[in-house]
Formats: sequence, structure tokens, C-alpha cells
Amino acid sequence: MSPPEVVELTAEQTHPLRLAVLRFDTPTKEVVFAEDTWPGAWHLGLRVDSQLVATSSWVPRDHSGAPAVQLRGMATARHLQGSGLGGVLLEAGCGRVRAAGGVLVWARARDAAVPFYVGHGFVVQGEGFVDEATQLPHHVVVRDLR
Ligand SMILES: CC(C)(COP(=O)(O)OP(=O)(O)OC[C@H]1O[C@@H](n2cnc3c(N)ncnc32)[C@H](O)[C@@H]1OP(=O)(O)O)[C@@H](O)C(=O)NCCC(=O)NCCS
Repeated sequence: MSPPEVVELTAEQTHPLRLAVLRFDTPTKEVVFAEDTWPGAWHLGLRVDSQLVATSSWVPRDHSGAPAVQLRGMATARHLQGSGLGGVLLEAGCGRVRAAGGVLVWARARDAAVPFYVGHGFVVQGEGFVDEATQLPHHVVVRDLR
């Protein structure tokens, strides 16, 4: 396995992994997010052995009245989950936000993924809720990059 390469993606390039990882068992199969084309949105992935193995989307969007970036669509190919790739991608994205002067990253995290985010410096904020699209329990998680 080659070392993971961080690659910039178009929104469309995230769709196959979103479908395979985030939408395979959900009531909706929609892989287009309205925020994908918001001003300043960008998409970052990891390539291993020329295969796209992880995707993420980063959208400038205030949180609790403060300038912030919302992380959406974090997905690692199912057969590679738990091998550290998601962590590499998350840190690469947060590093880019920090380099651009950003301070806050937040996400609506599936409860199953909350330990992943907490392991990377995010804190859980507020009460849990059921996400409308997936019907899965979620919490908001926030990371201060300072
Ligand atoms: C959550 C996710 C993006 C993390 O990526 P990853 O490549 O598996 O992450 P890493 O290997 O760097 O880290 C694994 C950690 O994530 C957590 N985790 C969450 N879901 C997991 C899963 N399905 N498989 C393995 N680990 C998972 C574990 O706490 C693990 O911690 P550990 O290493 O201390 O045991 C990935 O598991 C995934 O795509 N899951 C399904 C979709 C999802 O829930 N996306 C997030 C939506 S908010």
C-alpha cells in the first residue's frame, strides 16, 4: 500500500464514496449536499495506490455566531476504516483551515463517529439529535484550532 496522498477534489469526485459509505444504509441515497457549492467550499481526499479511499468537504459557515468551517461528508472506504486514514485526512483538512487563518471547525457527527472526532481534539456540544436525512443519532462536535 502506497502512503496516502492528500488530494483536492471536486464535489462530484466525492459522490461515489459518499454513496458507498454514508448513504448505503440510509433512507436517502442523495449524495449532493446544498453546501457543496457554497462560496469558499472545498473538498479534500486521500488517494492510496491511485484509488480514492477517503473524502471530506469543508464549508465556510459560522458556528454560534463565530466564523467557522463546517466539515461534512467524512468517509473512509469501508474496507479501510480503522486503519488511520480518516485521521490523516481530518488533520490535513484542519491544518489547511488553520493555515488560512481559521480558528473553529465544527461538524454534525454521527454518534458512532463521535469518538473519532474526540480523539482529534473535538469536543461535543449540546444535546443529541436525529439527523433528518440519515435518521441516525448525531451530536455537534467543535474543535478550536488555536
Ligand atoms: C468515521 C470515519 C470517517 C473515520 O475514518 P477512519 O479512517 O475509520 O478513522 P481512523 O482509522 O483514523 O480512526 C479510527 C477511529 O475512529 C473511530 N471509528 C468510528 N467509526 C469507525 C468505524 N466504522 N470503523 C473503525 N473505527 C471507527 C474509532 O473510535 C477509531 O478509534 P481507535 O483507532 O482509537 O479505535 C470512518 O470510520 C467512516 O467513514 N465511518 C463511516 C461513516 C461515518 O460515520 N462518517 C462520519 C460521519 S459524521
